[in-house]
Amino acid sequence: MTEKLKLVNNFWHKFKKPILALAPMAGITDSAFREICRRYGADVAYSEMASVSALFFKPQRTLELVKFNKNERPYVVQLFGKDPAHFAKATKIISEKVKPDGIDINFGCPAKKVFGHGSGCALMPQKKLAREIISAVCENTKLPVSIKIRAGVGKTTALEFVKNTADFPYSAIMIHGRTYEGGFSGPVYFSICEKIKKMFPDKIVLANGGINSSEDAIKILQDYPSLDGLGIARGAWGRPWIFEEIKNLLNVGVQFIEPNKSGFDESNPYEKYNFPKIKKIMLLHAKLIHKDKGKRGLFEIRKHMAWYVRGFPGASELRRKLMLAESLEEIKKILK
Ligand SMILES: Cc1cc2nc3c(=O)[nH]c(=O)nc-3n(C[C@H](O)[C@H](O)[C@H](O)COP(=O)(O)O)c2cc1C
Repeated sequence: MTEKLKLVNNFWHKFKKPILALAPMAGITDSAFREICRRYGADVAYSEMASVSALFFKPQRTLELVKFNKNERPYVVQLFGKDPAHFAKATKIISEKVKPDGIDINFGCPAKKVFGHGSGCALMPQKKLAREIISAVCENTKLPVSIKIRAGVGKTTALEFVKNTADFPYSAIMIHGRTYEGGFSGPVYFSICEKIKKMFPDKIVLANGGINSSEDAIKILQDYPSLDGLGIARGAWGRPWIFEEIKNLLNVGVQFIEPNKSGFDESNPYEKYNFPKIKKIMLLHAKLIHKDKGKRGLFEIRKHMAWYVRGFPGASELRRKLMLAESLEEIKKILK
């Protein structure tokens, strides 16, 4: 019965393919950025990773970190940690208090402070513990569960990891196609993602890693047609409309058969995302983050502003001014 309920309410199975996900990024995928990416074509947005131990002992700050608004739905909260009891309680707290659309388990983070504590992708080779963690999450929520893994860690491959855990009813797997050893810039093995999809056709499989343009995305979808979709992380920095660009490019085939009367291809992302339009997105992003976090948000948005203006005429001067702005009014003035 519970299994059936999970399928009925499971947003992962309601998407048109390919599914385009904003991948989780600590310090980046906050509420404002998630909303911006959802508005510009992301089908689903992941939170920053949230510590299950923090949720277990002192949840308030972490609950603040993962709160969201309805424009971000479908929204997935990602949990990290290593203690199954903490995962169990954190899952309950998130399901009951935050009420996202899904819960994700981080088996992919290589950062020292996560990996060094035995969490993130340090869990991939730990067969028994990984199973206990997935079990703790699946048993404590009615929400669909997903996992995020790497192509491999040491001798443990992503395929072995999924073989060891696929009997649990998690719905989706985002695979960062780099190994732990490959960090954030090594080769990306998309073929592993496709192999996993073919072996486990009931699981939704999203490939992630190094997808930095709509052309990259189209090529991967063409080369690995079994994939259900893609996860994009750094490719959305300063261009959250990358998701919409991919969708537009996917429609281009049809539009070439019957071009519109003006002969101007309205789906051309490079025509659409001119500087005035980008400035409007920057301002919207600033308004959203200001609404959510107040003045602190205007400091946090500086990195996004620097990414947005790359390639603008007079980028360095604009960047310099934006880095000094301390109010929404100032940002508005500068962007005018
Ligand atoms: C700044 C930053 C923070 C990240 N934080 C997380 C995180 O909280 N959870 C997670 O599973 N992966 C995290 N990642 C990994 C990304 O989700 C993604 O797997 C990785 O960046 C590869 O994708 P890309 O090549 O599109 O950037 C982070 C990556 C970056 C660059």
